Amino acid sequence: MSSSSPDERTLVLIKPDAVRRGLVGEIISRFERKGLRLDAMATRTMDDALADEHYAEHVDKAFYPPLKAFMTGGPLVALVLSGDDVINVVRGLIGATDGRKAAAGTIRGDLSLSNRENLVHASDSADSAKRELALWFPELD
Ligand code: CMP
Repeated sequence: MSSSSPDERTLVLIKPDAVRRGLVGEIISRFERKGLRLDAMATRTMDDALADEHYAEHVDKAFYPPLKAFMTGGPLVALVLSGDDVINVVRGLIGATDGRKAAAGTIRGDLSLSNRENLVHASDSADSAKRELALWFPELD
């Protein structure tokens, strides 16, 4: 029996602003160069129901209506990434929510100037990764 735990998985959404700006390759490349594995990838356009489920904790917030309009407004790329401590590692690579405040060297810090159009979403805990992976990639176990 192995004593090491299996690698974690996380869900990443490369948001419609990144697709529009031609940054999908740049963003995936940062994850690959870090050494993370790309287990699944799909281009999707969020509909209203998926947006409300994905962002269930935000639906009552003032910023939700424009966030929903943005996230349903064009295609995005959904990824499943895996690797050692992947949830925290990916949060570090993408940087703080507000691109104006995110540290240089992070995806948002280098490439975004917005609190809403911040290029990437990533699961923020093991519980949210489990929930979001089931929502976006129900075929994966
Ligand atoms: P994300 O990591 O996808 O999680 C929730 C999203 O809501 C966040 O990235 C931003 O796109 C958006 N968001 C969070 N806070 C604000 C805010 N104060 N104003 C506008 N958009 C926000």
